[in-house]
Amino acid sequence: LNADEARLVQTAWAAVKNSEVDILYAVFKANPDIQARFPKFVGKDLDSVKGSADFALHAARIVSFFTDFINLVGNDANTPALDTLLRQLASDHKNRGVTTEQISRFTDTLTGFVSSHAPWGDNVAAAWAKGSEANLALVRSVI
Ligand code: HEM
Repeated sequence: LNADEARLVQTAWAAVKNSEVDILYAVFKANPDIQARFPKFVGKDLDSVKGSADFALHAARIVSFFTDFINLVGNDANTPALDTLLRQLASDHKNRGVTTEQISRFTDTLTGFVSSHAPWGDNVAAAWAKGSEANLALVRSVI
């Protein structure tokens, strides 16, 4: 993403990045098979685990990955670091048996969440889609 596109994505992300629990909840709600991959949450009622400390901890870990990542986009000097972060994440998830299709659905839910909770418009949507596609392509090449 260029600097302008990155700013749009960063502004949108800033509006949701503290809603960690609600984001993970939306992902699990829409994708029970993703919830089922988490040893702490498999087979549990989503609404009863939502308020737990474990849920908050996992949500914070996952959402802060995006925060760290999104903070670095838009600056070519950060490309190697972004590449490393994404390859590491993909390889860790590959080892857990996560599929690229699940990563895509996770991303779709996240996109839906951001688009309905942050300032959004065609330009933001286009920048967000461009970034998502490029990053998903890299994840697919690893998994
Ligand atoms: C753990 C990020 C998608 C399953 C983690 C962690 C992060 C993370 C940062 C904690 C660090 C680690 O243990 O590696 C993400 C991001 C995703 C994503 C950014 C989407 C782009 C998924 C999907 C699944 C999944 C789609 C399952 C289908 C897991 C599991 C753990 C994990 C099982 C370990 C949980 C535990 O410690 O008990 N993820 N994840 N993740 N993720 Fe993901």
